[in-house]
Amino acid sequence: MKIKNFANHALLAAKITVLRDRRTASPLFARTLHEISVILCALVAADMENTVKQVSTPLVRTRGSATRNPVVLIPILRAGLGMLEGFRTLLPEAATGHVGVERDHDTLKPKFYYYKTPSLKNADVWVLDPMLATGGSLDFALTKLKQGKPRTLRAISVIAAPEGVRLIEKAHPDVRLYTAVIDEKLNNKGYILPGLGDAGDRYFNT
Ligand code: PRP
Ligand code: URA
Repeated sequence: MKIKNFANHALLAAKITVLRDRRTASPLFARTLHEISVILCALVAADMENTVKQVSTPLVRTRGSATRNPVVLIPILRAGLGMLEGFRTLLPEAATGHVGVERDHDTLKPKFYYYKTPSLKNADVWVLDPMLATGGSLDFALTKLKQGKPRTLRAISVIAAPEGVRLIEKAHPDVRLYTAVIDEKLNNKGYILPGLGDAGDRYFNT
């Protein structure tokens, strides 16, 4: 599937500018990433499937709806944790699993270090990571999560590089990809330009 991006969303664009600003210190960075995540969750949730549910208002009985399938949220450690509470704000019933992957600074290849999830069988899995750069970390996480036989897989980022988008679209055409924006390119160290620097370091003040 082609990536869905929300580059024309005025409030998202303003908040991403706060994240990009090198002067934005960790507390404001964390709060802004949380706010962006609430907005992104609402946008992605527009694609959820509903089922009919009858409801009685104080006046009449009418046709309403309920979301059909439970969601499992999977933040990719560490920076994905910065998106988790925003998604749990709107999806408080969602179960959460964790996947730990970090990039080797020299090779840019993903290094795997943690995996703990609830059962993914027939679940709608939403993978959270603010940065999609080379795509190596997300490719690795998606490949591993597929072993759990989820019903659907979505991957949601804040800033994506065209290089990473291409890799995921090719390797995982079955995954629904969402990002707030697609930036220009990667630099020779694998950082997204213009980007925001290292999301995990800025979120955790490390
Ligand atoms: C960042 C980011 C992604 C990854 C993206 O994590 O949160 O997981 O890089 O890069 P890629 O698309 O080239 O794989 P990082 O490895 O810096 O770990 P951290 O979140 O613990 O800081
Ligand atoms: N990971 C980040 O945190 N930032 C980038 O620009 C690329 C990968």
